Amino acid sequence: MSESTRQILILGSGAREHSIADAILRFDSARRVVVAPGNGGISGAGLSSQPVDLANHAQVIELARSLAVELVIVGPEAPLCDGIVDSLEEAGFAVFGPSKAAARLEASKAFLKSFAARHRIPTAAFEIVTSFAEAEAAILRRGAPIVVKASGLCSGKGVVVATTVEEALAAAKSMLVDRIFGAAADEVVLEDCLPGTEASVFALSDGERFLVLPPFRDHKRLLDDDRGPNTGGMGVVGPVEELSAETLSRITSEIIEPTLAGMRKEGAPFRGVLFAGVMIDANGVPSLLEHNVRFGDPECEALMSLLEGDVLAALEGCATRSLNPDLLSIPQGRHAAVVILAAEGYPMNPRSGDLIQGLEQAERLGAKVFHAGTARNGEGLVTKGGRVLAVTACGSSREAARAVAYAAADVIQFRGKQLRRDIGAQ
Ligand code: AMP
Ligand code: GLY
Repeated sequence: MSESTRQILILGSGAREHSIADAILRFDSARRVVVAPGNGGISGAGLSSQPVDLANHAQVIELARSLAVELVIVGPEAPLCDGIVDSLEEAGFAVFGPSKAAARLEASKAFLKSFAARHRIPTAAFEIVTSFAEAEAAILRRGAPIVVKASGLCSGKGVVVATTVEEALAAAKSMLVDRIFGAAADEVVLEDCLPGTEASVFALSDGERFLVLPPFRDHKRLLDDDRGPNTGGMGVVGPVEELSAETLSRITSEIIEPTLAGMRKEGAPFRGVLFAGVMIDANGVPSLLEHNVRFGDPECEALMSLLEGDVLAALEGCATRSLNPDLLSIPQGRHAAVVILAAEGYPMNPRSGDLIQGLEQAERLGAKVFHAGTARNGEGLVTKGGRVLAVTACGSSREAARAVAYAAADVIQFRGKQLRRDIGAQ
């Protein structure tokens, strides 16, 4: 196969994976990208979806072989924490994403907190408990507000910021006695509640070299004014501009660099994208809330829409330990807005099967629509639960990007469509 027809395999099924594929094809339209399992809407010139069970490593390797792929890019956390990168590398593939050992940064908050303490990375004071009796004693001693975190993966639902002791005890009981998260809450982290504003900072790394990308900020709650239940993320406008250069440089030197150096020292060099969730206090001092070991969704859709340069070469450089940090940039003054359209009933009880209309009209307005919970139904596209679409637009100001994204979001129709109206509002 010639250089220009190399196939790229992206594992995952959401708007995040769609946006990575789009960035690769924008730079080089001769590429061929397969997203697996993908979804009903990820298709187009050079782009297709193929079914695969990400939990079945043999099946994933088989697919990668049959496509003769050049690079595998892993989108979501579950297969990373489950060691899909190790399996694919053993089978001889170049893979963008951390090994299972490096993915512990996200797979275990207990590991992350102890790691941060070992490497003097600023983070909230904490303790780790494994029984309700221990939790109760610690909560009564520490008082409220206090943050109660299931250690393992809980699709973003395992953290309770408790404003009262009663609330904290109830959260600890649900995790350690009622076991609502099963083994993911065998260990529970109790930590001090930090005041400040949050930012998501992404750093690409090949284990040694790294490239810090501009920060973004997600809107986690379902409803306007940060009300309603937590979700995977309802939208983003960025990059976040109000962080000073000094704060950004502290995030790099006090959080990103020591994390990468610490992982090297502990024999699990981190290759892939490190996503630091950071709290910044009133004096601009950053603390680490959590690390994720993948791109955020919807942050990724904004980032990929803005990046200029050869995204594929940068991700491949991370995989092959040869990252050139100068490959990518975001042009000064460019902004992106992502508005998520979610299914009726999301996040508790999302409906499926509703016909989606207006996609072409939305793109004619200048937006790019990335697909998450969509499926083909004959000629049409229908919802398939959860977050359905990520409507994304770029502009020369936040307002310009927001205006296009919202205009496009409004012409897309499906029954019970949910969206926030205040994404990126000042
Ligand atoms: P995490 O998954 O650990 O980032 O937690 C999810 C969310 O809970 C974060 O995005 C914060 O909004 C909040 N959170 C987590 N830890 C703390 C903390 N120590 N203080 C205040 N808020 C927190
Ligand atoms: N948008 C937050 C996340 O992907 O975890």
